[in-house]
Amino acid sequence: MASGGEGRATLGLTKPVAIEVPQVSFSAKEIDFAEWKGDLLTIAVSEKDISKDEDSKFLNSILKKLDGQLNGLLSEVLIEEDFKGKNGQSVVLRLPGFGFKRLGLVGVSQSTSSSLAAIHREIGEAIAAAAKAAHASSAAIILASTNGILDEFKLTVASAISTGIVLGYYEDNRYKSESKKFYLKSVDIIGLGSGPEFDKKLKYSNAVSSGIIFAKELVNSPANVLTPAILAEEASKIASTYSDVFTAKILDVEQCTELKMGSYLGVGAASSNPPHFIHLCYRPPNGDVKTKIAIVGKGLTFDSGGYNLKVGPACSIDTMKFDMGGSAAAFGAAKVIGQIKPPGVEVHFIVAACENMISGTGMRPGDIVTASNGKTIEVNNTDAEGRLTLADALVYACNLGVEKIVDLATLTGACIVALGPSIAGIFTPNDELAKEIAAASMLTGEKFWRLPLEESYWESMKSSVADMANSGGRHGGAILAALFLKQFVDEKVQWMHIDVAGPVWNDKKRIATGFGVSTLVEWVLKNSS
Ligand code: BES
Ligand code: MN
Ligand code: ZN
Repeated sequence: MASGGEGRATLGLTKPVAIEVPQVSFSAKEIDFAEWKGDLLTIAVSEKDISKDEDSKFLNSILKKLDGQLNGLLSEVLIEEDFKGKNGQSVVLRLPGFGFKRLGLVGVSQSTSSSLAAIHREIGEAIAAAAKAAHASSAAIILASTNGILDEFKLTVASAISTGIVLGYYEDNRYKSESKKFYLKSVDIIGLGSGPEFDKKLKYSNAVSSGIIFAKELVNSPANVLTPAILAEEASKIASTYSDVFTAKILDVEQCTELKMGSYLGVGAASSNPPHFIHLCYRPPNGDVKTKIAIVGKGLTFDSGGYNLKVGPACSIDTMKFDMGGSAAAFGAAKVIGQIKPPGVEVHFIVAACENMISGTGMRPGDIVTASNGKTIEVNNTDAEGRLTLADALVYACNLGVEKIVDLATLTGACIVALGPSIAGIFTPNDELAKEIAAASMLTGEKFWRLPLEESYWESMKSSVADMANSGGRHGGAILAALFLKQFVDEKVQWMHIDVAGPVWNDKKRIATGFGVSTLVEWVLKNSS
């Protein structure tokens, strides 16, 4: 994200520094690793790879060869360093006498709950950490054993490694006064295959990485910088950068009033940073469209809770800049789609951006708002605001005549309680759509779990004075939120809601993850022809 909003004063006078995102060039090669020349050769090693035969020689052929060339030094060092090939372990050795300066070994997860893509993204991240520590400008990666990987998955593995490396290497320093130097320029992926298919895939994963980084930067940006207006500006920049395939439409309060978006406008009414309704449209270069789909993202640039103010130690009010994580995933995906330009599919990216604040012009608990489909909502909790904004965004998306809608939202704390911090909850009445997202996530390593749209729970969302309330009972909160959204989706449209409240934010590192971008891109590709 560049420093936007020229001419507009930012609260606190903070401006992000425009830092060039590091460009790492990847190539897939079929060469003997011992011949590779450069700064850092890394080998990904599992616990199994490290085992030895009765003559104390490595069973794994690559380790055996290297150990032979080093006269047993490798074996010795690994014992000394207690390196067992466990996930998270790594060692870097300075080795004289080779074309490469340093040798790195990184442990490989043997987790059965993670996909091949997830495991290899992690390997990439570990390599990035080693490359960063060694200030390497060129690196290579070879997997000690590739025999478990079917040929058809080798492209996915190479792509996951490359994405992991870029994301592991990248640091968001835009808000720090001292900038850091990026050293890494090129990475060779050895032994998985080579040729035009690999080149294309690696180019594609570089585009995906750039989209993930963009999404991370949007989420990391504080709410005093990333206002609804700036989010709209960032979206418009995507459209102007890829103007051959994108158009942007930004609706102001007046235009949203004309469209009767009372539910959305109610949420934004307290803030001095006015709402901006954002609609990007991707059309393929040759104009032929077989499928029309929409991606809707929750875009609360800050969620204070409103009059139902977020109070108490576990309320996470200080992380609520992340409440536009759904929209960040949508725009991150848009940035990728603008680069790879898939044919046959039209994609609408829709975000009802606003800020949930407190003031005399804001919604009170108990107010009744009217959404653009005419339905009335008793706002019994101003903190259940995301669904109010999505209601009008979903109606808008349905009116575009799309066949499918996927919405992403940091919608409920309840979803984090249900699935923990790294798995997104999915809700859909449509099994086909569930399969599409499941297949996409297998290729990206992002984790999703389907939860039920239990109609009988709707009971607790009933209002005595309006068509519905915006919050219900204490239990099953993520399901209630999804059932609420369903009221605003045309039955003819295939729809899925994804609650990303957990995975868009890394609470340990207190930093955005870019979650959703890669799976959305794969989903769009599945709908292209
Ligand atoms: N943005 C929050 C969801 C959230 C809360 C994400 C905590 C991560 C951590 C959302 O707007 C919200 O406040 N949801 C309420 C809904 C409730 C009032 C029905 C929640 O989850 O507590
Ligand atoms: Mn809220
Ligand atoms: Zn929220």
